[in-house]
Amino acid sequence: MNSTLLLILVIIKWNGEKYNVPVDLSQPGLVLKTQIFSLTGVAPERQKIMVKGGVLKDDTDLNTLKLKENQQLMMMGTVEALKEPQEKPVFLEDLSEAQISKALNIPAGLVNLGNTCYLNSTLQCLRAVTELPTAVEKTGINISSNNQQNFSVSMNALFKELDKSGQAVHPVMFVQLLRTLYPQFAERDRNGFMQQDAEECWGQIVHVLDETVNGLTRNGESNKSKKFVEQFMTVETIVETKCDDAPAEPPSVSMETTNKLRVNIGAVSTYMVSEIGNGLIEKIEKNSPTLGRNAIFTKTSKISRLPRYLTINFVRFQWKAQEQIKAKILKRVQFPFELDMVPFCTPELTAKLQPAKQRLKEIADRKADEKIENAQEMAVDEAPKDQKALLEAIGVDSSLIEDPGVNPSGQYDLVAVLTHVGRGANSGHYIGWVKQGGHWWKFDDDKVSQIKEEDITKLEGGGDWHTAYMCLYKSRDLE
Ligand SMILES: *[C@@H]1O[C@H](CO)[C@@H](O)[C@H](O)[C@H]1NC(C)=O
Ligand SMILES: *[C@@H]1O[C@H](CO)[C@@H](O)[C@H](O)[C@H]1NC(C)=O
Ligand SMILES: *[C@@H]1O[C@H](CO)[C@@H](O)[C@H](O)[C@H]1NC(C)=O
Ligand SMILES: *[C@@H]1O[C@H](CO)[C@@H](O)[C@H](O)[C@H]1NC(C)=O
Repeated sequence: MNSTLLLILVIIKWNGEKYNVPVDLSQPGLVLKTQIFSLTGVAPERQKIMVKGGVLKDDTDLNTLKLKENQQLMMMGTVEALKEPQEKPVFLEDLSEAQISKALNIPAGLVNLGNTCYLNSTLQCLRAVTELPTAVEKTGINISSNNQQNFSVSMNALFKELDKSGQAVHPVMFVQLLRTLYPQFAERDRNGFMQQDAEECWGQIVHVLDETVNGLTRNGESNKSKKFVEQFMTVETIVETKCDDAPAEPPSVSMETTNKLRVNIGAVSTYMVSEIGNGLIEKIEKNSPTLGRNAIFTKTSKISRLPRYLTINFVRFQWKAQEQIKAKILKRVQFPFELDMVPFCTPELTAKLQPAKQRLKEIADRKADEKIENAQEMAVDEAPKDQKALLEAIGVDSSLIEDPGVNPSGQYDLVAVLTHVGRGANSGHYIGWVKQGGHWWKFDDDKVSQIKEEDITKLEGGGDWHTAYMCLYKSRDLE
């Protein structure tokens, strides 16, 4: 289980060209074929790659091939011109139950490796939201006539099974419901169900959870007057819109909410934290009532509420109208393990976050001191155990104490990263990297391995290796 990233570079020769391909030796042959597909456009099933002992098979363990750095491999195969689909696409909701079962009985290898990794990796990352199973259970939703409710219940059942068995789980019912609720995930091509964009999948899952799962009280009971996603995953911002050309025109102020912050990828090196700041200031064009014409306005957003779980999405895919593809931006985005969101907050929230932020600083300082000398008992050690009492003792504002899904300090730790390898959102491969029990784990469909923290840093991008696409941060625990 204790594998690290075993990466070597091989050179694929095809059609008079050479392609440098980083190979993850812990993967089967199909993953390499998928990478080559994204470089050459030759579909995996049309590739013949010559390796020791014959032609590379989809399920060959790459580690057994004893590949050497910069080894050249010959690939044969032709790009197939895209044909019109022979039959019109069939959607699951048009099928009878028996037909659905038959449809899902597609040879497991293909479904697993080619086409549901967007869902597997998303689910593994969302398992880092540890309060979710309690919230689903306490909401008391049952398998019912409502598809959305069935979805949340079956997701919870799946999480439980994953917790319990520690073995690969077949999310059949869950996948079926996802495809029923969102027919785009039931799109097919000649190979079966198509690869999909993990960010869209993440968004749809969070949307269904938002519709079906009630919030929690501080005691972990259900609160029907709140939604879980609203409490634990939603950022609120105060948006001020001011006309650039008419300084005297009073700005308009509104409140907005979002389940994820988007980070645009710049021309050179992108720092996630600076880009969060840049994303909060926008120029828009609209009508100015005082000027009586269209003018440029500056929209400035400041965060007025931070949730316990913060989702950051790197905008890696751009739609290229001419080629009709979603093209990927491979550039590097540096993301931190520890994130301070206080600089992006309203002055009111900044003031409310100070006591808990200060407390975390004291804890960190004390830990540093303890290393030097076994320091005497400090006042912070006498803190009450119960979170609510602790927040009160620290002097946290009551509005934050009453909100169990809030981040009271503005301080976050990275808990999950979803990565993509390949050139297009609807091809390539997705993997979830999740921190559980103090360790980082790589969830590559049914293969799970423990990895080192520094391997997470390698996911920043800048090349053909797995590239961070979504990051999930969790509120740092107070002690
Ligand atoms: C990922 O999805 C495949 C296909 O649905 C399934 O067989 C596999 O067990 C899944 N892995 C996990 C960890 O859920
Ligand atoms: C779910 O089923 C249980 C047991 O039958 C019932 O007590 C509960 O009210 C149901 N919940 C909903 C939301 O219908
Ligand atoms: C929800 O699941 C139950 C049990 O599998 C099933 O009987 C019911 O028809 C499902 N509801 C919908 C709308 O599919
Ligand atoms: C439930 O949520 C509402 C709305 O946020 C809040 O006013 C109420 O105090 C909450 N109830 C409990 C018991 O926490």
